[in-house]
Amino acid sequence: MSEAILTVDNLVAGYGNANVLNGISVQARDGEITCLLGANGVGKSTLIKAIFGLASVRQGTVRFLGKDITGWETHRVVAEGLACIPEGNRVFPRMSVLDNLMAGAYLENSRAKIASRLERVMTLFPRLAERREQFAGTLSGGERSMLSIGRGLMSNPRLLVIDEPSLGLSPLFVKENFKLIRQLGDDECTILLVEQNVRQTLEVSHHGYVISQGKVAVEGSAEDLRQSAEVSEAYFGGEASVH
Ligand SMILES: Nc1ncnc2c1ncn2[C@@H]1O[C@H](COP(=O)(O)OP(=O)(O)OP(=O)(O)O)[C@@H](O)[C@H]1O
Ligand SMILES: [Mg+2]
Repeated sequence: MSEAILTVDNLVAGYGNANVLNGISVQARDGEITCLLGANGVGKSTLIKAIFGLASVRQGTVRFLGKDITGWETHRVVAEGLACIPEGNRVFPRMSVLDNLMAGAYLENSRAKIASRLERVMTLFPRLAERREQFAGTLSGGERSMLSIGRGLMSNPRLLVIDEPSLGLSPLFVKENFKLIRQLGDDECTILLVEQNVRQTLEVSHHGYVISQGKVAVEGSAEDLRQSAEVSEAYFGGEASVH
């Protein structure tokens, strides 16, 4: 089993005075795709925000590559090798595809490194290469999702955190997107994936957590979770398994 590069331990976090996360502990292991599942509003995005310094952490720790990064500001977290693709595949609509990608490399000064990352992203997404001069706002939903993932890769992350990449995409693009995530996990970096689309998520993941009421309710290998009665109960009203 590979070692954890991200360890969230007993985290209590939220907004203002209210806590959303009530002592949550999750890990992302090197080279694997780890998924966070759970109903709307349980705190999946809040966990991501807490990791990236965008929610208030009141207790617990976030460790990345052996370093305590709890409560660090976003740019410092990114500089350590974490990248986040937030919910909704947001892009800068009035900027070109190329400028959107360049925005992902804002912490890198070396032109050579930026150029080689850009080339890698363009190879991964030939559609973005074709549309490099186009305003991002004119892209299709699927292309926008490629662009937000590409922008995340431009910081050359060790760990890519992706929040609901298939939200709002047509079923065909959702399928494509999952294929892409699997490929990124195999070839590029470790991935922490938040998704509602349970079946397909467990097909591409190695390990997963089901979150409920701001903490982990069930944890296991993707295979275990596919077989789990609790998971099928929670998501499919008690079908025998997730298959
Ligand atoms: N900026 C904020 N200020 C105050 N409360 C917030 C804020 N963002 C989220 N919340 C609240 O925190 C709770 C958890 O929200 P969160 O976005 O983490 O859920 P989620 O698991 O990502 O849900 P979804 O699957 O719908 O994306 C919700 O009750 C939400 O209303
Ligand atoms: Mg969310």
